[in-house]
Amino acid sequence: MSQPSDPIDIHTTAGKIADLQRRIDEATHAGSARAVEKQHAKGKLTARERVALLLDEGSFVELDEFARHRSTDFGMERNRPYGDGVVTGYGTVDGRPVAVFSQDFTVLGGSLGEVFGQKIMKVMDFALKTGCPVVGINDSGGARIQEGVMALGMYGEIFRRNVHASGVIPQISLVVGPCAGGAVYSPAITDFTVMVDQTSHMFITGPDVIKTVTGEDVGFEELGGARTHNSTSGVAHHMAGDEKDAIEYVKSLLSYLPSNNLSEAPAFPEEADTEVSEADRELDVLIPDSANQPYDMHTVIEHVLDEGEFLETQSLFAPNILTGFGRVEGHPVGVVANQPMQFAGCLDIDASEKAARFVRTCDAFNIPVLTFVDVPGFLPGTDQEYNGIIRRGAKLIYAYAEATVPLITVITRKAFGGAYDVMGSKHLGADLNLAWPTAQIAVMGAQGAVNILHRRTIAEAEDVEATRAQLITEYEDTLLNPYVAAERGYIDAVTLPSETRAHVVRGLRHLRSKRESLPPKKHGNIPL
Ligand code: HXC
Repeated sequence: MSQPSDPIDIHTTAGKIADLQRRIDEATHAGSARAVEKQHAKGKLTARERVALLLDEGSFVELDEFARHRSTDFGMERNRPYGDGVVTGYGTVDGRPVAVFSQDFTVLGGSLGEVFGQKIMKVMDFALKTGCPVVGINDSGGARIQEGVMALGMYGEIFRRNVHASGVIPQISLVVGPCAGGAVYSPAITDFTVMVDQTSHMFITGPDVIKTVTGEDVGFEELGGARTHNSTSGVAHHMAGDEKDAIEYVKSLLSYLPSNNLSEAPAFPEEADTEVSEADRELDVLIPDSANQPYDMHTVIEHVLDEGEFLETQSLFAPNILTGFGRVEGHPVGVVANQPMQFAGCLDIDASEKAARFVRTCDAFNIPVLTFVDVPGFLPGTDQEYNGIIRRGAKLIYAYAEATVPLITVITRKAFGGAYDVMGSKHLGADLNLAWPTAQIAVMGAQGAVNILHRRTIAEAEDVEATRAQLITEYEDTLLNPYVAAERGYIDAVTLPSETRAHVVRGLRHLRSKRESLPPKKHGNIPL
């Protein structure tokens, strides 16, 4: 590097130090000023700016800053930027260790070649060995075309590491630019994917290929933008307004997760007041007298969690079920809840898969699951049947039944049919099952039940409507309550809504020492 006219003489110690500094400067400015300007003009940050926002100030330790490709095809030998287009290393978030890779679109389009791939593999191996989460920041043109199969091989190596790390260390993907082709499968395997409105795009095949193959006209945003993947496909877990918001969301997620499956999630223990408060009493008047009238399940969740803080995941996808994290007495819990405001809280394919994946995430990382139930059943229809509600709904049963973390279930209103069993019932292994006096636990609702049980009586009745109404009342009074289940111990306690928080607090305190294991096996065979 040192030339005769070079003011730096690398034959002296001072020169060697100056030479290192020059190389560091070159590495940290690997992207051209024009490329950085283009990046900012799109409302995007650079790879290093993102790392700086994510990690605690001054905590970043970079690895492989001077790594670069050794390709010679297509004039590549004349363009060998330090870092090879990805910034990797480790640091801390809220004082806790985190490994990170951040793809740099300003360098070779963030495209993934052999050295780029090896850098990511190294940082993933480092995270797995040390038991810390990996945050992958994706902003890339995909497989580096000039490096051909080497790029493809590296993707495969990364996928394999994603799989091996799954359930051992939390893996979170930030998609903050293009993420196309097979490259999408690394984020897909990770626990959470966060996208930014308008600037993030994920797709297997782009608009041009789709146009050629199917004739369909679709733009980038509609095909694979943040809104599409948050509301339609369910690929993403949060749609951020901008990159700062996206990074804040990732930090919040990390605050609920342990560093690895053998360590405890961060807790801020503070003994809860279990006296029933004025706020608790608001739940006593929440459930409408009419069973067909909806109410917002968020209200219940927020009354039970510390400070009412609920970090929702996939809030735009399958909104008929709510999933997310909160704390009880300072300890993280995962929440799964039917939402009566959307499709009356019916379970469908999307809701089942959303909740199943969330329960498994909690179980993998030893986070107790709190389930709130108000479910009229599975959504009927050929669309659901043909798309596999049988095998796909089964995932939720599987997830609850294999979970060994503390499970507390609260039935607020309806728990009908198979959905009663599915939603964290005693029979699937929940530890504590509570029901409010408004709970209706039965094979089906009154209308449907009476039509089947008393078809002939109704058909032969002089006053059909009056007879039906009387039979409905009889059914409701006999079966639509929590007491039949409570008699059998399927419900451990029928509790006032206002006492739910105290019940949950005491239950989780007790369940903290829960130990349960499943029969030894290679792995189960969840219906996929
Ligand atoms: C090499 C690439 C590249 C790639 C972009 N660049 N993608 N170089 N391999 N895959 C380079 C460009 O040549 C350009 O270099 C610089 O990065 C910036 O790219 P632009 O095109 O100027 O940026 P922009 O206009 O913002 O367009 C972004 C883009 C486009 C939409 C991502 O670059 C694009 O379509 N790239 C190809 C995407 C793709 O088809 N990738 C393969 C996907 S399949 P200069 O020197 O001009 O600045 C795949 C398989 C993975 O990834 C397999 C896993 C199993």
